[in-house]
Amino acid sequence: MFVTIFLPGIDISARSSTKIALEKQLTYGWESGFNYYDPFLQGKDKPIMVVLTKDPRTGAAMDKTDAYVFPAGTHFPDGLTHDNILGEKVQAASTTKGRIGEASEAAGGVFLVRVDADDTPYIEYATATRGWTTDAVLKAADQQFLAGGGKTMFIREGCWWCHTLLPEETQDWQTFGRPPMTGDFNGESPTTFGSDRKAPDLLHVGSRNSSREWMTMHFFNPRLVQPHSIMPRYDYLWGNKDKDGNKIDLHAWDKEYMAYAEGDSVYPPEVPVPADDSEARMLIDFVLNLK
Ligand code: HEC
Repeated sequence: MFVTIFLPGIDISARSSTKIALEKQLTYGWESGFNYYDPFLQGKDKPIMVVLTKDPRTGAAMDKTDAYVFPAGTHFPDGLTHDNILGEKVQAASTTKGRIGEASEAAGGVFLVRVDADDTPYIEYATATRGWTTDAVLKAADQQFLAGGGKTMFIREGCWWCHTLLPEETQDWQTFGRPPMTGDFNGESPTTFGSDRKAPDLLHVGSRNSSREWMTMHFFNPRLVQPHSIMPRYDYLWGNKDKDGNKIDLHAWDKEYMAYAEGDSVYPPEVPVPADDSEARMLIDFVLNLK
């Protein structure tokens, strides 16, 4: 039996961006599916999300703040360059209070997501409003997340064949967290809802599991932490060298792992810590950032 449901067209650009939509715009940067500026889908041309606990200009302590660093030349997301995407009120606040009109891709800059007194989220161009330069912010950052490049990995590696990023309004709420709202998607292209679900929904996975170590082991070989997992290994995303510059030898690792799997040794071999410029690092940052 076939059931056909007709949905009315939804003009997302007519909706107002939520705070989440603004955070996604600034985390993922410019995207457009398979992208002319990153033809080999390596996660290039992406902003860096950082966590700050001190003002990068004055050094004064401040509340934990997420900032989005666009090194000079990094393409801006559509929400910064098209004036009909954020929604009227969000656009107005981002322009007047946030001064986003002063930002340019050539110069790069630092952005924040803020909420004003009547609850309108907006983007602040902190390079203009606070004098925060990209270099100073990267230097002052407690943590850096390469989640923009990680979303490219998520698409390229086909994680969406098994995982959704879309819990539904059913008992999913209790297990996987709240479903998204339409306004969470302003300017996001492509979205990564997934196809059908063969594995846990990941929209809020970073809230239920924030362990970088667990994610690292699980991506290297899911069977290390979930004995009967059907998830593929992503050890090849580590590249040739680990974080300390040591060569990664997957054949040697496999041999030791097989000895463990067959009961000939007690412990599995250690999983290398991914290098800062590895694709594994980007993917892990993306997943941990799904809050
Ligand atoms: C063949 C299907 C399949 C593919 C492809 C796949 N996964 Fe999985 N994934 C699973 C299954 C099944 C589980 C649950 C068992 C486990 O933890 O391994 C899982 C678990 C996870 C978890 C832990 C979820 C939780 O609720 O704690 C994360 C995170 C994850 N996968 C991320 C990814 C990412 C990122 C990719 C792409 C690089 C990917 N997966 C590709 C099947 C898949």
